[in-house]
Amino acid sequence: MRSDRVFQSFPVTADTHGLAAYRGRGGYGGLTKALTSMQPLEVEQQVAASGLQGRGGAGFGVGQKWSFVNKRAPVVYLCCNADEGEPGTFKDRWILEHSPHQLLEGMLLASYALRVRHAFVYIRGEFDLPLRRLQGALQEAREAGLVGERILGSDFSCDIVIHRGAGAYVCGEESSLLNSLEGKKGYPRNKPPFPAIKGLYQRPTVVNNVETLSAVPWIIVNGGAAYAAMGVKKNPGTRLFGVSGHVKRPGLFERPTGYPMHKLLFEDAGGVLGGKALKAVIPGGSSTPILTAAEAEHLTLDAEALSKAGSMLGSGAMIVIAEGTCMVRLLQVLTRFYSHESCGQCTPCREGTDWMNRILQRILAGRGTPADLVSLQEIPQAIMGKTICALGDAASMPVLSFIRKFGPEFQHYVEHGRSMHDGRLTV
Ligand SMILES: Cc1cc2nc3c(=O)[nH]c(=O)nc-3n(C[C@H](O)[C@H](O)[C@H](O)COP(=O)(O)O)c2cc1C
Ligand code: SF4
Repeated sequence: MRSDRVFQSFPVTADTHGLAAYRGRGGYGGLTKALTSMQPLEVEQQVAASGLQGRGGAGFGVGQKWSFVNKRAPVVYLCCNADEGEPGTFKDRWILEHSPHQLLEGMLLASYALRVRHAFVYIRGEFDLPLRRLQGALQEAREAGLVGERILGSDFSCDIVIHRGAGAYVCGEESSLLNSLEGKKGYPRNKPPFPAIKGLYQRPTVVNNVETLSAVPWIIVNGGAAYAAMGVKKNPGTRLFGVSGHVKRPGLFERPTGYPMHKLLFEDAGGVLGGKALKAVIPGGSSTPILTAAEAEHLTLDAEALSKAGSMLGSGAMIVIAEGTCMVRLLQVLTRFYSHESCGQCTPCREGTDWMNRILQRILAGRGTPADLVSLQEIPQAIMGKTICALGDAASMPVLSFIRKFGPEFQHYVEHGRSMHDGRLTV
């Protein structure tokens, strides 16, 4: 029987990450099928028919992205984005640790479809076990003739190279990733041209996230239509939802898109720690606009529903916030992160993120003024949409949404010089 789980269809044991275990659960069946009975275009068509959307945050259609690439170009590159730096997000790490061959198979299928001969994995510098697991899997795949020249005796040859980042969040942004991979400073590039036209070494390049590429083997084995039938129609499939923060059973849960958020948080993840009430949820990684408990109550986990609620599904990483948490302090933690990670190329982002961080520090120190609250609403407006990459927006959206939804807490802090709670982030 076909599993409706694309990732978590097996119990994790000490050797789940190895080639034998992966083969035991049907691994490399998609690659064998493609190389023996499908043309590259058919692989691309199945992925397009699946409706798979990118899992790195922006949710761009994978079929559409692949269609932009000129497959007749002498060189086409594939880069897998394994930088996973968005706070709250830990899904790619899970795949790399427990099913690295699934990613390699997805990359080989994408490479076959796009006529790529050299593919890269750009992996987050802080990842240690995921790196070792991926290196081990690549070695096994090479020795088994699954990577390299004439794969499985076919005409298709492709090598995969792992490149380790050096701890900059901005290098997860695709064009910054390409600069870093080329050995340059990890500065985002102006777009257009987009990577599909001029990417790595100015060649057509597809950049896809780990979870995105790891879904491709399932699609090739079961067909695009079967994938499209899971979850909601407009953004189908399953997703690895991460749940962290003030929750009893934090973890990663594979669920179809459209799954009720309340069910995920209160049944699957056990509800709020310490029996407290839910105060708010950050639904898709720390940059996505915060939702109040009331807003989260009847939401389903799909891009359209989240967008209607004024937020985003982003990387699918939910941060749960319990009643009693100081939102001023929480926002300062987030703002400090984005200010620290700004690469400094654009003035609005470089200066604006630093100003917002300093203002919040001043408020926390009991020296905030009413004018500071006005600035916290004006600065993000001056950043959003005026920068080279989306880090500026990522830093701005939390500030705007926190002030809009929890304004009285910020006013109280400014008026009284202290939090209306005990100022803590922990439960
Ligand atoms: C500041 C910033 C950081 C990002 N970090 C990541 C990341 O760690 N991993 C990732 O897959 N995408 C990240 N992205 C999104 C990538 O630019 C890109 O959209 C994604 O890798 C495309 O893959 P997908 O279409 O499969 O989602 C980031 C974007 C920005 C603006
Ligand atoms: S928005 Fe920020 S991180 Fe992105 S290029 Fe500009 S300064 Fe760098």
